[in-house]
Amino acid sequence: MAATILQGKEVAQSIRTELATEVADLKKQGIIPGLTVVLVGDDPASHSYVRGKSKGCEEVGIRSELILKDASTTEEELLSIIQGLNENPNVNGILVQLPLPAHISESAVIEAIHPEKDVDGFHPISVGNMVLGNETMLPCTPHGIIELIKRTGTEIAGKHAVVIGRSNIVGKPVSLLLQQENATVTMCHSRTQNLEEHTRRADILVVATGKAHMIGKEHVKPGAVVIDVGVNRIETGKLVGDVKFDEVQEVASFLTPVPGGVGPMTITMLLKNTVSAAKKQAKR
Ligand code: GUN
Repeated sequence: MAATILQGKEVAQSIRTELATEVADLKKQGIIPGLTVVLVGDDPASHSYVRGKSKGCEEVGIRSELILKDASTTEEELLSIIQGLNENPNVNGILVQLPLPAHISESAVIEAIHPEKDVDGFHPISVGNMVLGNETMLPCTPHGIIELIKRTGTEIAGKHAVVIGRSNIVGKPVSLLLQQENATVTMCHSRTQNLEEHTRRADILVVATGKAHMIGKEHVKPGAVVIDVGVNRIETGKLVGDVKFDEVQEVASFLTPVPGGVGPMTITMLLKNTVSAAKKQAKR
């Protein structure tokens, strides 16, 4: 039977509607959540992601500001911008779009963001708290993936989840969150041997390799939930995932499309983190 297509766009929309109500209530109490996004350089994909973030803020009533800096911006300048945002009470969340130009240290920039304003969940303190299972801002893509899987009605506990990819942004954190949901987790990566042997055992398969069409139906156990995190532009200009959508659709029980699957959930989790940062900061 063909898979049900997991329309992240629809799930994201329903969460955004809830968030809009919450933001309207906060505004009545004088709390206006604010997000500042900093983009350095002119990477077209980053510009497109950042536009999606601003649009999402507008949709739920979050005040958003975009700081655009050219690629020659120094690390010192960027760190000083972040310092200003850390001290600005109108800014509840700070997001520096990655990747940064090669002359700027990503880790220095991430560490400069005050952990309470770290709506990306990338600061070592946020990551440490996530590993310990403490309440913290979770990274947006992994958190969005968990929400999507839950919306399928799939019980994660006790299932075998296989994650392909071990990036700091997706693979590592999503495998940890799946484990915290009591899945048995296998992590695969570029050095994994006999990949298919592992992936065919997955009840839940999360693919985050950044390689277009890498996963076919031979990799997928019939009935598996398949989450495709890849966003790859192929020669024709079309955006495709890491999964061969048409053939995997024949065997999976649920499958996310690209675009319209994980992407809209990522932005929605960012909005959620910004609202929760604003609530927390208002208490002090
Ligand atoms: N670049 C690609 N994904 C992300 C993300 O989730 N956050 C940031 N800051 N940059 C990114």
